[in-house]
Amino acid sequence: MERLVSGIKPTGGLTLGSYIGAIKQFVELHKSYESYIFVADMHAITTPQEKKELRNNIRDMVAIYLACGLEPDNATIYIQSENPYHAQLSWILECNTYLGELNRMTQFKDKNRKEGSKNLSCGLYTYPVLMASDIILYDADVVPVGEDQKQHVELTRNIVERFNNKYGSTFKMPRPIIPEAGARIKDLQNPKMKMSKSDSDSRGCILLLDEENVIRKKIMSAVTDSDNKIIFDEENKPGISNLMMIYASLKDIKLDEVERKFVNSNYGEFKKAVADAVINTLKPIQEKYKEIINSSLIDEILNKGIEKVIPLAKDKCLEVQEKIGLGR
Ligand code: AMP
Ligand code: TRP
Repeated sequence: MERLVSGIKPTGGLTLGSYIGAIKQFVELHKSYESYIFVADMHAITTPQEKKELRNNIRDMVAIYLACGLEPDNATIYIQSENPYHAQLSWILECNTYLGELNRMTQFKDKNRKEGSKNLSCGLYTYPVLMASDIILYDADVVPVGEDQKQHVELTRNIVERFNNKYGSTFKMPRPIIPEAGARIKDLQNPKMKMSKSDSDSRGCILLLDEENVIRKKIMSAVTDSDNKIIFDEENKPGISNLMMIYASLKDIKLDEVERKFVNSNYGEFKKAVADAVINTLKPIQEKYKEIINSSLIDEILNKGIEKVIPLAKDKCLEVQEKIGLGR
């Protein structure tokens, strides 16, 4: 069975974008692979985090994975920082990655442009290498992620090729899995921008734990054009196209089916259908989340998870250190 590895940063307030771009694929795919899904807490600290909040967000992330439908019998769920081999391998990979490669990472370039290098940590700059380590430590075959992470998986592939050429076959070559609809969900108020908790104003961004009336209000006031035709055209009709993407993904239908279904509808009617689809998806998740968040299940799953991954990671790391000549 092929292996699947992916993770999400526990930076609080998970968005509908990360649900559609990532978690939904985890849930759909996890039974067809040997799956390793982790909480990327070491990635979270690439930007400043408050201690108590971080702890809560890590636990929340696990509850959300479970509430969204990941089954612990089919997926190994763990916290990245509890396995020291992620950082160990990451250092070795950093020594096999070029500055020029990291300088090309668009996510960092965008942040640097917006915030200036004085405010950005070195960890934020090198985090794509930690991500490569997360992936190849477990010999992943597939990595389901949203479009914004594709470049980091490409970097991972370059690192694998370089390392294997230099030291002999060591790592598996991973491939990204990017969803067809919903690879990049946009901000509802500014549909040229990615929906993201950190960059969006709160009206443009739906959080998985938002209340029903809040969700409805955000979708009904989403920015659109004045053409009143439900047609997919990201260039000229980014707002409506984004809502269509959300609808298509949640209903598991194609964009042209959405067009056909709403050919006689106006924007108000369509927005109401989108709001209903989002609420119908998120309500059961929120109910399950409330059941799970204070239960002992979370710790039981995490204990089992970390127990399983440490020996795997240790073997891989020792193999790498041996090939390089580290230690005795
Ligand atoms: P993050 O919350 O930034 O750690 O992202 C977690 C996962 O969700 C990654 O695989 C991202 O690519 C994906 N993701 C985040 N925001 C969006 C979005 N607006 N549209 C699609 N995928 C997203
Ligand atoms: N960098 C990813 C993000 O910001 C999260 C992540 C960390 C990840 N390590 C990973 C995703 C390994 C897939 C595989 O969303």
